Amino acid sequence: MLTIRKATCDDVFVAWHIRRASVHAACAGHYPVAALSAWVDGTPTDKWASVVERDFYVAADEGLVVGTGMLTVANGQVDAIFVRPSHTGRGIGRKMLQFLEALAGHHGVATMRLDATLNAAAFYRRCGWSGDSVSTYRTSRGLELACVPMTKRVAVEG
Ligand SMILES: CC(C)(COP(=O)(O)OP(=O)(O)OC[C@H]1O[C@@H](n2cnc3c(N)ncnc32)[C@H](O)[C@@H]1OP(=O)(O)O)[C@@H](O)C(=O)NCCC(=O)NCCS
Repeated sequence: MLTIRKATCDDVFVAWHIRRASVHAACAGHYPVAALSAWVDGTPTDKWASVVERDFYVAADEGLVVGTGMLTVANGQVDAIFVRPSHTGRGIGRKMLQFLEALAGHHGVATMRLDATLNAAAFYRRCGWSGDSVSTYRTSRGLELACVPMTKRVAVEG
């Protein structure tokens, strides 16, 4: 059974591994391989680890972490939707998004935002997100990648 829970410091390395593996598996063909390596290879910094502990959620299947997601409550920004390549196509990405959408609504966030990688924009559209224009996403390492800015209105609790 799939469960979604808050990430802890013990999830930092598995979250890093899933991010790296899923980007190389799914984004190749949409970006130069060197750009993908510059984006996700290497080892996690202390700063990245603290973001995982603060804002990440993980999806676990029988104890195995199979996906990640991140919500910044202050601005409704979703990041880090990554699913372990061996577990794609099973509804895990959609469940993580639905979890974050409910969480945003619980915190009074009415409009959510994300920057989709070119390969993932169709996935987000299937999940009810809108956006077609191509823009530029600046990674924490200062790398610029093409992306599709997307938004979704969510129901606010209370
Ligand atoms: C994109 C990603 C998160 C999707 O996760 P997933 O668990 O495989 O997706 P789901 O199984 O929940 O799919 C939900 C729906 O989206 C569709 N879908 C999933 N990936 C898709 C894609 N690349 N293109 C078009 N549709 C897609 C599914 O067919 C499903 O459609 P349905 O409404 O008919 O059921 C996953 O493939 C991934 O980690 N990719 C690499 C990392 C990445 O690019 N992340 C996004 C960063 S912005």
